[in-house]
Amino acid sequence: MPEQDFTEKKNFYEDIPQRNSAFFLKGAGAYDWGMQNRLARIFNPESGKTVMLAIDHGYFQGPTTGLERIDINILPLVPYTDALFCTRGILRSVIPAATRTPTVLRATGGPSILKELSNEQLAMDLEDAVRLNTCGVGVQVFVGGEFETQTIHNMTRLVDAGYKVGLPVLGVTAVGKDMARDAKYFRLATRICAELGAQMVKTYYVPQGFETVTAGCPVPIVMAGGKKLPELEALTMAYRAVQEGAAGVDMGRNIFQSESPVAMLQAVRKVVHEAMKPELALEFFKTLISESNKPGAQA
Ligand code: R5P
Repeated sequence: MPEQDFTEKKNFYEDIPQRNSAFFLKGAGAYDWGMQNRLARIFNPESGKTVMLAIDHGYFQGPTTGLERIDINILPLVPYTDALFCTRGILRSVIPAATRTPTVLRATGGPSILKELSNEQLAMDLEDAVRLNTCGVGVQVFVGGEFETQTIHNMTRLVDAGYKVGLPVLGVTAVGKDMARDAKYFRLATRICAELGAQMVKTYYVPQGFETVTAGCPVPIVMAGGKKLPELEALTMAYRAVQEGAAGVDMGRNIFQSESPVAMLQAVRKVVHEAMKPELALEFFKTLISESNKPGAQA
């Protein structure tokens, strides 16, 4: 038993009102503490931004180039990312449980690249997501796709389940092969995700009107990377997306298929968290490579 505390000299700072401190992330002010806390682990509370590393491609296309051996090629990148976007299969089998890096888990799937991709179903129970101590779950939403309604229902079911346990949902706007990738489409797709409850939305960058996509979406948007580009182009795309309102990126191939994935990830961090100009970030990328090639440098 602790001793009784009879002192009269307590200090209640009566003249200082207690402050409310909701996480400042766009749209997050009314979420419960656990959800805000998880979002604050994904989005750096200092910059308000995130550099997520997407390595979930295997869930529909198998061993993607650069992801053949995640234990060898990807584990060295994990300390440099704000959140790892992966499947629970890779998390359990390859990612060390001692990692300090938060995760966002892919929670839908079904069809492979050999079939109609929009025919996805929920592929994970949120009880397992909580067991894996994840900070969020991702769901593919095919607005305009053949199974549009089904994928939107996947998302709304995850949102409902997520609120029960405080897990935020990342709506991923997937674009069908024959569909236009323009601001008009992404305004529609991202807004639908947010209106129906996604707490964050991942979408592609478009050079014309991307700022209208981010402005019209009431929750943070993270930019998906897309196919591999030369490093300067990928850094420029990430820079512009953030300058035009994105709360960060969730990039895959442009990082893990780079000549130097660790250097590229660090260069993307400069662009996203420090607003470093792309040309300077490319110089930073090259400097990291030349330093790592010096005799005695750590591999
Ligand atoms: C989304 O559908 C994929 O599973 C990836 O998470 C996404 O495409 C991001 O990776 P990348 O930057 O390679 O396009």
